[in-house]
Formats: sequence, structure tokens, C-alpha cells
Amino acid sequence: MDRIDSATDTADLRARAPDGPVTPAEPRSFGADIFARLERREARVAVVGLGYVGLPLAAAACRAGFPVLGFDVDASKISKLRLGQSPVGTVPNETVVAISAGGRFTPIADPEALKAADVVIICVPTPLDRHRNPDLSYIEGTGQMLVKVLRPGQLVVLESTTYPGTTDEVLRPILERGGLKAGEDFLLAYSPEREDPGNKDFGTSSIPRVVGADDDRSRRAAELLYGAIVAKVVPVSSTRAAEAVKLTENIFRLVNIGLVNELKHILGQMDIDIWEVIEGAKSKPFGFMPFYPGPGLGGHCIPIDPFYLTWKAREFDTPTRFIELAGEVNAAAPRRVVDALAEALSRRSRKSLAGAKVLLMGLAYKKNVDDMRESPSLTILHTLEARGAQVEFHDPHIPIIPMTREHPELAGREGVALNPETLAAFDAALICTDHDGVDYQALVDAIPVVADSRNVTKAVAHGRERVIRV
Ligand SMILES: NC(=O)c1ccc[n+]([C@@H]2O[C@H](COP(=O)([O-])OP(=O)(O)OC[C@H]3O[C@@H](n4cnc5c(N)ncnc54)[C@H](O)[C@@H]3O)[C@@H](O)[C@H]2O)c1
Repeated sequence: MDRIDSATDTADLRARAPDGPVTPAEPRSFGADIFARLERREARVAVVGLGYVGLPLAAAACRAGFPVLGFDVDASKISKLRLGQSPVGTVPNETVVAISAGGRFTPIADPEALKAADVVIICVPTPLDRHRNPDLSYIEGTGQMLVKVLRPGQLVVLESTTYPGTTDEVLRPILERGGLKAGEDFLLAYSPEREDPGNKDFGTSSIPRVVGADDDRSRRAAELLYGAIVAKVVPVSSTRAAEAVKLTENIFRLVNIGLVNELKHILGQMDIDIWEVIEGAKSKPFGFMPFYPGPGLGGHCIPIDPFYLTWKAREFDTPTRFIELAGEVNAAAPRRVVDALAEALSRRSRKSLAGAKVLLMGLAYKKNVDDMRESPSLTILHTLEARGAQVEFHDPHIPIIPMTREHPELAGREGVALNPETLAAFDAALICTDHDGVDYQALVDAIPVVADSRNVTKAVAHGRERVIRV
């Protein structure tokens, strides 16, 4: 992480802090102040953590008319933002330039500057640790930083995905260490982020927002805040309920993806195409919702969040069998995809996977993004090479493999450019990500075996006999 000098932005923002401090002894007046400022969209909104979630949120708050401060511990992100560049692949530079115009968005590198904020929204990571237990160190670290700047009348909202009880049992006690009480001196709420990076149909402002708080004033303030930013706000009775909403959504996806991956495997053995089956099933106008199989789970949410509940459930001596089972089925998907490719190579080309030249198409965990967190592609690449294949990859969004926790040995490898000469060298291609803008027909024309785990070759007109669904 770079270090940059941020003394100026602190001084600058202090000078612009709201008039007249309000003491904890006057909760009613501070309440009126924050509510009025939220209603007039004058409240200064600070977003802590400017990643896939925080930066689009900061942009949406700016567009809603709020003055916005953006804070991140990664100083290189702040430097980029100050130059009008986006540090997040799914947010274009133009968005940063547009929200920075007229000083509406201020990137800050000094946490002291957060004193000037009326609202602080926390969007920091919530990964699993080495033992697959929740790693709340980012939330705790943010709380420890905020307690030094917390002042009466502020609204703090946690957005990071986490298990029920985090806001109340982990964040609140840290914030209260400075002597201010949640619900009395400052307001505290939880609102789960439902951002789907790269989704052109739904963005931060058009996705309804659930907000939960453990007291009425905090909930009302959070409703006012998000009501100004997003199309619809859905209040729930507590921070725990709001935390559980997010986990329920992601567990629902995990279990259904696990189910459809299992069905793919079973139906494939019966020579039935799962994609055709899903198309047929989804013609039912009620009671069925399509989920699609793939090479395995990826991204920051689905492979991780459900296990936050599994961890918390241990406290209640309750197993989470659906979650564990879906996790197992999905974890087996990358290996099954590699097995299917090996079998196709042997059956169709009389070649062994060992020694075969394989083109792996797509590193990102989903289409049209540069995000490869938890992507199954790296596991697949690793497995292919462990079984003796010579693997090259291509991803239009990821030209070089960055450093990852799971596969540091792959960092720095460069992708191959696609042209008739390079394509002609491969015995097989394995499509892991269905990015747009790739000439899949050219791939099928040039490579004898094309294993497609995403059904992206459905539109290929010629040479379909070379394609196998895996
Ligand atoms: N990415 C998604 O699609 C998505 C969707 C819904 C919810 N979420 C949840 O939102 C949260 C954030 O996810 P993300 O994808 O934006 O992560 P991210 O890694 O893209 O961004 C997090 C940012 O927080 C910064 N950060 C870390 N510690 C900090 C601190 N103490 N103070 C300030 N900044 C700090 C990091 O430098 C990084 O820029 C997670 O809990 C995630 O589960 C993510």
C-alpha cells in the first residue's frame, strides 16, 4: 500500500464540519439535526472501504445530492481517485470524474477527516480465515478507528455481509468504548449490500434496500438515508434480522447452485442436457426459478457468506446441513469439469490430459468483470497442470494473474492473445467464464475439443460436434 500525505484534507474538512457540537445530554436536538440534514440531503456521508461495494455506493450517494467523503486504508486507491481514476474495474473512470466535479466527492486518506461526517457507512471486507471461520478483523479495525472520531449525532451503518449479531455484539461495543451510547448518543444500523458488480440491469440505486436497527431513531435515520439513494427501502425490526436477510439470500443461491450442479452431473450420465432441461423448466410461470450450473463457485459472496451462519449456528449447537452439503457439491465442481475434459480428450482425440495443450478461457468468477476472488478457474488451472496438461489462459479482463491467497504460485502469468496461429496450437479449450466479446465460433473452428461449462457456445453455428458441455 502506498503512503500519501493527507494532512490537508483533514484540515479542509474540519473547517467544513457542521456548526455547533451537540452533546450526548441533548439527544433530541442531535436527532433533529441529523434528520433535518438527511431530509435536506445536506448530511455529509462518509463511505469507509472503497471497493466493489463502497465506490458504487459513494457514487450513488453523490448522485442523490449528498456531499460524500470516501475513505480507504489503501492509499493507492485514494491517490487514483484524486486523479479522477477508478480503482475498481466495474466502475468507469467517467463516474469518478463526474462525482468529483464541483467537489461533491472527496477522497480522504486521514481517518480524522471522518469527524466531519454525519453518516459513516462501513463497506470493508468480511472474508473467512485459514480455518474457514469468519474474519471480522476489518470490521473490528474500522470500529477501533471510528471510536476515535465518533461524535454525538452521527449515524453509523454497517453494510459488510456478516452473521446475525455482528452489529450489536461486535461493532456496537467497540464504538461505545469512547463513552457514547448507540441509540442515545449516536445512531447505529445495518443495511446489507446487494451490489451485483457488472450487472447492467440493476445498480446500487435501483436495488431495494433492507435496513435494520435496534432502536427506532436509528432505523428512521437509516430509512431517510437510503430512501434518498435507492428506489425502495424495506425496514426490518433489528440489525440481526437485516444481517440474516443477506445471509438468507446468499444461502438460497448457494443451495440452488449446488442442486443444479448435482443435477448436471446426474443428468449428464443419462445423456440429458441440463441446459435444455432448465430452459424447459423455466417455462413454468410459478414455483420455479432458474439457476445455472458452472465450473464451481466464485466471488466474494456465495462461497463465503453462508459459512458465517454455519459458524454462528455452532453457538446454538445447531448444524447447518444444507449449507455444508451444497458447499461440498459445489467444491467438487472444478474437479468434475476437469474429469469431463480428460474423458472427452481421450474419447474424441485419443489423447491423454497429460501432455495435452489446453486453453483455459476465463479467469474471472463471472462474466464481464475483472474480479477473480475465489474464482474456480485458478483451481482448475492448478488441477489441469497437476495432471500434466500444458495450460495457457485467456481472459479479456485479466491479462495477468494477480497475487492470490490460494494460488500465489500462479501470480504474474500472462494470458495468451487469441488469433488463428495461437488457437491452432491447442488440443482442447475449457470455457470457465462466459465473457461477452469473445469469438467463440473462432475457438470452435480452431480447437478439436471445446469443453463448455457455461453454455456460451449455444450460439455457435458451425462445428457444434466439437463442443461438449461439462
Ligand atoms: N463484491 C460484491 O459483489 C458484494 C456484494 C454484496 C456484499 N458484499 C460485501 O461487501 C463488503 C465489501 O466487499 P467488497 O467486494 O466491496 O470488498 P473490496 O475488497 O472490493 O473492498 C473493500 C475495501 O475496503 C478497504 N478496507 C479494508 N479495511 C479498511 C479499513 N479498516 N478502513 C477503510 N477501508 C478499509 C480495502 O482497502 C478495500 O478497498 C464485504 O462484506 C462483502 O461481503 C460484496
